[in-house]
Amino acid sequence: MSVESIVQAVYLVAAVLFVLSLAGLSRQESARRGVLLGMTGMGLALVATIALALDRSERPVGVTAGLILLVLLVGAAVGTWRARTVEMTQMPELIALLHSFVGAAAVLVGFGSYLSEPATSGADAGAGQTVHLVEVFLGVLIGAVTFTGSVVAFGKLSARLRSSPLLLLGRNWLNLAALVACAGLLWWFLVAGPAGLVPLLLMTVVALALGWHLVAAIGGGDMPVVVSMLNSYSGWAAAAAGFMLGNDLLIITGALVGSSGAILSYLMCRAMNRSFVSVILGGFGAETPAAAAGGPAEPGTYRETTALEVADRLTAARSVIVVPGYGMAVAKAQYPVADLVSRLTARGTTVRFGIHPVAGRLPGHMNVLLAEAKVPYDQVLGMDEINDDFPETDVVLVIGANDTVNPAAQDDPASPIAGMPVLEVWQAREVVVFKRSMATGYAGVQNPLFFRENTAMLFGDAKEQVELIVQAL
Ligand code: TAP
Repeated sequence: MSVESIVQAVYLVAAVLFVLSLAGLSRQESARRGVLLGMTGMGLALVATIALALDRSERPVGVTAGLILLVLLVGAAVGTWRARTVEMTQMPELIALLHSFVGAAAVLVGFGSYLSEPATSGADAGAGQTVHLVEVFLGVLIGAVTFTGSVVAFGKLSARLRSSPLLLLGRNWLNLAALVACAGLLWWFLVAGPAGLVPLLLMTVVALALGWHLVAAIGGGDMPVVVSMLNSYSGWAAAAAGFMLGNDLLIITGALVGSSGAILSYLMCRAMNRSFVSVILGGFGAETPAAAAGGPAEPGTYRETTALEVADRLTAARSVIVVPGYGMAVAKAQYPVADLVSRLTARGTTVRFGIHPVAGRLPGHMNVLLAEAKVPYDQVLGMDEINDDFPETDVVLVIGANDTVNPAAQDDPASPIAGMPVLEVWQAREVVVFKRSMATGYAGVQNPLFFRENTAMLFGDAKEQVELIVQAL
């Protein structure tokens, strides 16, 4: 059997493992198995690809092996260092940065592929060459958009760039003009023959600017969708690179990433009651005149409470729902929260968690933190499963959540988050909000929940406050 046919068989096994991995990742109970299957598939894919590269090597095998080993060592060292040092709260930034690598790789593969197999003739070229040129063009186009788009998403998520949207005059026309220019450059590229490098380079510049502008025009509140959209783009860029390199596994993997990213973006848009097109066209989350004039006005007075008082309420309560948000992740409060919940459960109180689909800063953020703190999965419910139960609940503890529990999404059609489904915590008998100040959440909008009669504010770091409550209990 030739190396080539063994490698194809290994690719098939790896592709099946990737599909099984995605299936495993769709449920919390099987997620660990899904990750292991994905790692095994990727390990097999790497070994097979290296074997193929060595088999096809035109230079001495030792030199090729040495070069591969060198890049593997550098990549593995940087990857291990980042993975060990990254905070859970920085995960979306890291993912955005990783997408930018996929985009840059697709651009480099495109140029490499074009320069090693340049067009020999112009308009009269055969179909095979035209298909190859279109693959190169699309690969570089998607890769360049993904690259700069991901860099801007990284900048916004890590607060290196302003998170409010960049609103240039006629911004949608600018995007359209860039796409039309790319279509014209494709035509030039196909007929240019050996001089095709010029339109390819021009298109790369236009695509880099397009990626930058597309994401710069999107406000911070929509970043989760953007990250998953860029995840999808990076998949299509990888699939395009697979076509250029004639690598079936890369095509399959790219298509899996591309389509799962697109499905996730759709599900997130549905969770925020936004249309995908309105997210892509950007502009959401622009500063309102009130915000520009020193922040949103406070719509009334609020009531403060203490950890001791909350402990008393919890002792008397029969049913409690904990609604965590980004602040729980910042405070790393998941361990004392899990402790508090297990103590209350042991006393016979019904305690559950209510998780909003976009709570925190990445899909499944809260589920990961709670799983880390060993909270049983059956206590953790999604928004749709728990929203009807708030009216029968004695106490709701809102721990570092803000936008995801904002009643303005339902009551105020003028609110920037109007129509976003939210956890209806205000329906409960009492609500305690854990946060450090009266500051707004990620979308920058005021939250009328804090000023409701049945709401009390517990100011301070969420971890410290929960620990005080546990002590008092
Ligand atoms: P946010 O609206 O971001 O509010 C978090 C709250 O936590 C803030 O009001 C903050 O108030 C408080 N906080 C921060 N550090 C704290 C600490 N150490 N102790 C106590 N409180 C602390 O949270 P959310 O309700 O989870 O909403 C998520 C938002 O992020 C949505 O707008 C969503 O669209 C967006 N987003 C989501 C994702 C995904 S996929 N989940 C990704 C990117 C963006 P203080 O500063 O006053 O303490």
